[in-house]
Amino acid sequence: MKGYTSSALLLGPVLLSQLALAQQAPSGVVQWDIQKRTVPNAPNRLLRRAGSTYPVILQNAQARGGYFATCEMGTPGQKVTLQLDTGSSDVWVPESSASVCNQGAGCDLGSFDPSKSQTYTVVGEGEFDISYVDGSSSKGDYFTDVFKIGGATVTNLTMGLGAKTDIAYGLVGVGYAINEAIVGNSHSLSSQYPNLPVSMVDDGLINTIAYSLWLNDLDSSQGQILFGGIDTKKYKGDLTRIRIYPSSNGYYFSFIVALTELQAISPSGNDTLTSEEFPIPVVLDSGTTLSYLPQDLAEQIWVEVGAEYSSRLELAVIPCSKKTSKGYFSFGFAGPDGPLINVRMDELVLDLTSGSPPKYTSGPNKGQDVCEFGIQNSTAAPYLLGDTFLRSAYVVYDLVNNEIALAETDFNSTESNIVAFASMSATIPSATQAPNQAAVTNRPAATSPAFSASTGFSDGSSNGGEDENASSGMPSALGVAQMSVMGIAMVFAMIGSGVFVLL
Ligand SMILES: *[C@@H]1O[C@H](CO)[C@@H](O)[C@H](O)[C@H]1NC(C)=O
Ligand SMILES: *[C@@H]1O[C@H](CO)[C@@H](O)[C@H](O)[C@H]1NC(C)=O
Ligand SMILES: *[C@@H]1O[C@H](CO)[C@@H](O)[C@H](O)[C@H]1NC(C)=O
Ligand SMILES: *[C@@H]1O[C@H](CO)[C@@H](O)[C@H](O)[C@H]1NC(C)=O
Ligand SMILES: *[C@@H]1O[C@H](CO)[C@@H](O)[C@H](O)[C@H]1NC(C)=O
Repeated sequence: MKGYTSSALLLGPVLLSQLALAQQAPSGVVQWDIQKRTVPNAPNRLLRRAGSTYPVILQNAQARGGYFATCEMGTPGQKVTLQLDTGSSDVWVPESSASVCNQGAGCDLGSFDPSKSQTYTVVGEGEFDISYVDGSSSKGDYFTDVFKIGGATVTNLTMGLGAKTDIAYGLVGVGYAINEAIVGNSHSLSSQYPNLPVSMVDDGLINTIAYSLWLNDLDSSQGQILFGGIDTKKYKGDLTRIRIYPSSNGYYFSFIVALTELQAISPSGNDTLTSEEFPIPVVLDSGTTLSYLPQDLAEQIWVEVGAEYSSRLELAVIPCSKKTSKGYFSFGFAGPDGPLINVRMDELVLDLTSGSPPKYTSGPNKGQDVCEFGIQNSTAAPYLLGDTFLRSAYVVYDLVNNEIALAETDFNSTESNIVAFASMSATIPSATQAPNQAAVTNRPAATSPAFSASTGFSDGSSNGGEDENASSGMPSALGVAQMSVMGIAMVFAMIGSGVFVLL
């Protein structure tokens, strides 16, 4: 099937706006609406590479959330809701008989029963075996079957069947085919199969291996992935193309781009933050909820906003009132005059639980609600820009020319103007290339910034500066000592269920 398609399984109002879109959309694109959901233990689905060129990143297991879309597989179609993941490359679904689907909450987002599909064929017995960096995994057979996204049909998609898994829902990995689990496991490039974006091209649904991602506002429950095109009404300003970096062996495995500048901007001033790690290789990873930056940079960010590391939660936390802060961070990519993406504080302060939030029990923030901060620290590259960053950007992934285009998102845009990639290997439409990518290797000196923006990161209800010492209580040094005396005393009992035990 060729042409514009959209999911029929949407809420009423969304369906209406979609119908409006359907009339103007050109052929050669497939649009898929994705919904934000909170799920237990969905922290970091970046594929863990066996025998890897990348060190394994260890992340805390406390992050939550993700973007999900409903699709159908098999004949007759079985409905499953899968998490969209740019950090891995296999589509897989839990098998209905898997133990994870038959205990506790079960697989309430859907599972697949192969015995009920007339078109199911096993193509790799026991060959599907994927592990993510958070330690979760899924194993079973590779099979081929019909796969429907929106109204588009891929007739013969290779997928993994999670017979043995500890994840109660499947994923749609849309990364490079070379990053498929089987390639890592077999250490053989020739074991690669056409994954979803490639199969969509093979089936004539889209013209080139590319898609655009619009996650939208934290407060909005839904975003969009558009295969084969861009939507010029979903971003502000211009799209700028930047290069994706290959791994040391020259292959493109993941969406690594160069973060070359970070500024903290608030009513009280602007600071250029520094790091020993600039230029920082960051993976744009929609399967990861939070963002993870080098220790020195993360600590400067925490000082600016008044976030603190809780050793008990193993997480940087921040008073929830900072959601209304007028400050923001400006992320610069690909060298001087490259694209800048501004990320506001209301996108960076996340509720820890859907129930009533825990409170600070001592320290300068005593009595205030505790929230999770969207930028965490990590000790090893590649660093990750997950959903807390991606929501503020419109991101186009071009897997043929190995480029990404970025622009500032247009939150809650209801308009649409879809432009398809003209042909296989066409460059990203309406985008210009960042002008100084050769200068990416320049490394600015890592000096301590003045933190002149920090007082302006107080919550929006105060007039920026007056409660400087009270709200952040930050010492001049990068407050590690401060963090341990902060005194959040709680046990992270059941994430997502709202149960916290305050000690
Ligand atoms: C489906 O895909 C598999 C694996 O790529 C291939 O072996 C098989 O021939 C295909 N079947 C059809 C009907 O195209
Ligand atoms: C977008 O919509 C959500 C939900 O209606 C709303 O809470 C949020 O404030 C809106 N964001 C912007 C930037 O207007
Ligand atoms: C801070 O940056 C903003 C945005 O670039 C700019 O408008 C403003 O003039 C700057 N303020 C100072 C004090 O440099
Ligand atoms: C993050 O920073 C805290 C405080 O400095 C440290 O204890 C923790 O080990 C760091 N986490 C990682 C993953 O580097
Ligand atoms: C914050 O504390 C510093 C050092 O103790 C002090 O010099 C400054 O006046 C205080 N600022 C405010 C706004 O209270």
